[in-house]
Amino acid sequence: RLPSGSRVGSLSSCPDWLCLSPALQKDLDSKLFGQHLAKKVILNAVSGFLSNPKPKKPLTLSLHGWTGTGKNFVSKIIAENIYEGGLNSDYVHLFVATLHFPHASNITQYKDQLQQWIRGNVSACARSIFIFDEMDKMHVGLIDAIKPFLDYYDVVDEVSYQKAIFIFLSNAGAERITDVALDFWRSGRQREEIKLKDMEPALSVSVFNNKNSGFWHSSLIARNLIDYFVPFLPLEYKHLKMCIRVEMQARGYEVDEDIINRVAEEMTFFPKEERVFSDKGCKTVFTKLDYYLDD
Ligand SMILES: *[C@@H]1O[C@H](CO)[C@@H](O)[C@H](O)[C@H]1NC(C)=O
Ligand SMILES: *[C@@H]1O[C@H](CO)[C@@H](O)[C@H](O)[C@H]1NC(C)=O
Repeated sequence: RLPSGSRVGSLSSCPDWLCLSPALQKDLDSKLFGQHLAKKVILNAVSGFLSNPKPKKPLTLSLHGWTGTGKNFVSKIIAENIYEGGLNSDYVHLFVATLHFPHASNITQYKDQLQQWIRGNVSACARSIFIFDEMDKMHVGLIDAIKPFLDYYDVVDEVSYQKAIFIFLSNAGAERITDVALDFWRSGRQREEIKLKDMEPALSVSVFNNKNSGFWHSSLIARNLIDYFVPFLPLEYKHLKMCIRVEMQARGYEVDEDIINRVAEEMTFFPKEERVFSDKGCKTVFTKLDYYLDD
C-alpha cells in the first residue's frame, strides 16, 4: 500500500486506493486538446474516486463524441496513470463491441461471459478497469448484463464491485454535442464557455432514446447508474495543429510550423460552408505526418 498522498509512477500491483491528481492533470494538460469539459470531469471524477478507500458504487463514465476527439486517448491516459503497461495491464480490460460481441444471435452467451469475466477480474483486483469501446455498435440489451455490478450493492455473490471503474466510449450523441459547439461558435462565444449543463442532460436523453447507442432504453440510464456523461467537442484547426506539434516532439523531431500547417490543411472540415470542425479530429493527422517526416 502506498503511503498517504504519495504517487510513485504507475503500478504493477492492484492498489487499495491511490492519489494521482497531479500526474493525471499534467498528462491531460499536455496531451489532450480542445476538451475543457472532459478534462475537468475526468480529472475530478477519476482522482476523487481512486483516493476514496470506500466508494459506494463503482465509477461509471460514458464518453461521447466523434471519432478522433480523444475518447480512446483519454481512456489510455487513465489506464497508464494507474497501471504499469496501461491498456496492456492485467487489471485493465478493453472490450470492443464488434470484436468481442459480434453476433446478435449469441447475446445470451455474451452476457454470461461478460458477467463471468468481470466477476473473475474484480475478484482478482477490486480496482480493475473495464473499457467498452464502440458502445454504439453494442447489441441492444447486452450492456444491461452488467447492471448488478454498477449498482449501490456492498456485495453481489460475495464480490464487491464498488472500487472498479467502467468506461463506455461511443459516437452516440455526437451530433448533439456538435450542434451546441456550433451554436457557440456562430454566436461568437468561446468554446471554453460551454458548460457541462449545456450538454449533459440532453446527452443522456438522446443516448437513451437512440437505438444505435448501446444504451437504448438501458436500465443503466433509467436507474441513473452512469455517473458522468462526458462530452468530447469537435476539434478546430488550431487543435489539430497542437496534436501535430506534440506528436512531432514526441517522435524527437524539431517542431516545424510549415509541416504542421501543411498536415493540418490536408484535413477536411465541416459544416461545408464554414469549415469549423475537423471531421476526423486528430485521428489521421499522425499518418499524414509520417508522409512529411519521411521526405
Ligand atoms: C454463436 O452463434 C452461432 C450462430 O448463431 C452459433 O452457431 C454458435 O453455436 C453460437 N455459439 C455458442 C457458443 O452458443
Ligand atoms: C478477465 O477478463 C478477460 C477479458 O478481458 C478474460 O479473458 C479473463 O478470462 C478474465 N479473467 C477472469 C479471472 O475471469
